[in-house]
Amino acid sequence: DSQLPTEHAVLTAAPLVPPPIARDYPAKVIVTLETIEKIGRLSDGVDYTFWTFGGQVPGNFIRIREGDQVEFNLNNHPSSKMPHNIDLHSVTGPGGGATSSFTAPGHSSRFSFKALNPGLYVYHCATAPVGMHIANGMYGLILVEPKEGMPPVDKEFYIMQSEFYTKGKYGEEGLQPFDMEKALSENPDYVVFNGSVGSTTGDQSIHANVGETVRLYVGNGGPNLVSSFHVIGEIFDKVYVEGGDMVNHHVQSTLVPAGGSAIVEFLVDVPGTFILVDHSIFRAFNKGALGMLKIKGTEDLAIYSGKQEDTVYHPEGGGIQSIAESGSTSARARNKEERILFGKRTYDQNCMACHQSGGQGIPGAFPPLAGSDYLLAKPDRSIDVLLNGLSGKITVNGQAYDGVMPAVQLSDESIANVLTYVLNTWGNNGGEITPEQVAKQRL
Ligand code: HEM
Ligand code: CU
Repeated sequence: DSQLPTEHAVLTAAPLVPPPIARDYPAKVIVTLETIEKIGRLSDGVDYTFWTFGGQVPGNFIRIREGDQVEFNLNNHPSSKMPHNIDLHSVTGPGGGATSSFTAPGHSSRFSFKALNPGLYVYHCATAPVGMHIANGMYGLILVEPKEGMPPVDKEFYIMQSEFYTKGKYGEEGLQPFDMEKALSENPDYVVFNGSVGSTTGDQSIHANVGETVRLYVGNGGPNLVSSFHVIGEIFDKVYVEGGDMVNHHVQSTLVPAGGSAIVEFLVDVPGTFILVDHSIFRAFNKGALGMLKIKGTEDLAIYSGKQEDTVYHPEGGGIQSIAESGSTSARARNKEERILFGKRTYDQNCMACHQSGGQGIPGAFPPLAGSDYLLAKPDRSIDVLLNGLSGKITVNGQAYDGVMPAVQLSDESIANVLTYVLNTWGNNGGEITPEQVAKQRL
């Protein structure tokens, strides 16, 4: 094997993927990865001490070819407090390399392996306590392309799901330490793509154009949960099941095991924002497992028309509607305090899934209501937002949002209550909206 040509692996940080392998012969590929422990952003206002491969979570994407001889160098940064190693699931050998790559802070280890099997593989740290090293961010993907290469596509992206277990609950600010109890009970506060809440939303979304084929290399670092990976508004034309070479077609959601992967491909036919989620759906809307693929191009109204009509629907004549109204009038608030109290119930049932329990929203996807300059500048404008919904570009606290908020089906009383609640919670500066104001704007 000393005859093999030598090259250095191109490494990329998520969501980027190294270029396809152009060789049709094996090579000696030198991979050099550094483990480094550093504080970074887990969510807005929430920091975490990540243990990383290459300085970010997930670790660098490595791309090699079946039959390659890999020389692996693991450098553990001198500032590390912990020893680290690496178990690559693409390695045939004890510990997947873990035993040979155990590296103290300020040291460097080398081992070599032959890539016998093609596929998309997870790598992770396997230093005891293993669960803790993984929970702190030590995982990534290595693609071993088959000898004949991967079929060409227009866009490739690297998406890796994982969970974080923090002492404070979701959204609690500050530097959050790891919580072993929560990890043992497999009850994470955060489930995220590419290492943080909002890593792949808003300005950081991934992009493609109508008519292009998109391939996502999807990994799951765990440490505990299995992902039901789904893209809202798309159907996977092809799934390389579990990252192997069995291809399934026309798939809605695919399972990605903890410590496993899947490769999904689809042609994008229409423009819009397509949301990547773990379809264990509270993880997506309440714990962070949400990303965005933005597609530009011309509409194809035969494939998707957009909303064609919105008319009043009277299933049993007009009477039904007044019954709904009387139900809510019986709970009429008598003063502002009651309005706030009733408003909280309405909020929890109708708004919280998107705007979140602390009113902080989800960066890039759902704007905050807590401290929202958009809301507080003109509180009556939000009556309109609730009555008619809102779409198109808006700016809230300096960040652009371009989503769709559906109109909510609530009575004048409930709208008054929920907005009064929002105006008087999370440090917002007060005010009251009355049912009379809502009635006036409903006309
Ligand atoms: C925007 C309130 C329910 C998604 C807004 C805004 C307000 C608001 C005041 C204006 C922007 C801001 O001040 O931050 C509410 C209330 C709700 C509710 C009180 C419950 C009654 C929802 C739900 C969703 C949602 C259930 C998700 C399905 C959005 C989105 C925007 C928005 C995407 C931005 C729209 C754009 O980009 O044009 N909401 N909302 N909202 N809301 Fe809601
Ligand atoms: Cu480690």
